[in-house]
Amino acid sequence: MTAPDPEVPVITIDGPSGSGKGTIARRVAEALDMHLLDSGALYRLVGLAATRQGQVGAGEAEIAAIAADMNVRFSMNDAGEEQVWLGSEEVSSELRTEECGLMASRVAALPAVRKALLGLQKGFRRAPGLVADGRDMGTTVFPDARLKIFLTASAEERARRRHKQLNDKGIDVSLAALSRDIEDRDRRDSERSVAPLRPADDARLLDSSNLTIEEVTQTILDWAQELD
Ligand code: C5P
Repeated sequence: MTAPDPEVPVITIDGPSGSGKGTIARRVAEALDMHLLDSGALYRLVGLAATRQGQVGAGEAEIAAIAADMNVRFSMNDAGEEQVWLGSEEVSSELRTEECGLMASRVAALPAVRKALLGLQKGFRRAPGLVADGRDMGTTVFPDARLKIFLTASAEERARRRHKQLNDKGIDVSLAALSRDIEDRDRRDSERSVAPLRPADDARLLDSSNLTIEEVTQTILDWAQELD
């Protein structure tokens, strides 16, 4: 693989679970015809791969080795949905489960795992540009990004959105249980010693609690245009 080009523009969208980062990042990338990095999917993949190999309780070095060895590929299906591949298997629906999200946040707290995924993430920086979503895109992975967004929404609103998303898929989970999961995950992501969830000093804060997807997308596109 060729080295990532520091001249290629990057837009980072960081924030807590359920703030809408994934949807917004995809819309912004499509509008600007840029590549997309869903970094959360990489941490979810590590959790999934570790579980499948019976290594959930393994030590940091073993889990980091799993992260370094993963054969990952992203593609798009005919409906325009992201597909994630682990080796020859399409694992997108397993990755979206709450269990996988919780496993992801556990392995993401291990410094050696974060280090193992760094090169893979930087490799997504290819012309004409990249929109990267996650927790530490602006602070750690792409500190020189042209535009950094920290997208938030109240915990209640994030739980409500996730509840609706799961209900639409026919999955029945209580709103209270989801709120607890979201709060646990927020706490773990913000309190970990390595790459904790926090806005980069030069990030623009955007609260999506009372905004539509279109309004949030347009705000970011306007900001991107100001910088051109
Ligand atoms: O964004 P998503 O919910 O898919 O991320 C799953 C988990 O992966 C997060 O809760 C977080 O612990 C971890 N993560 C991370 N750094 C990133 C992206 C995700 O630590 N850049």
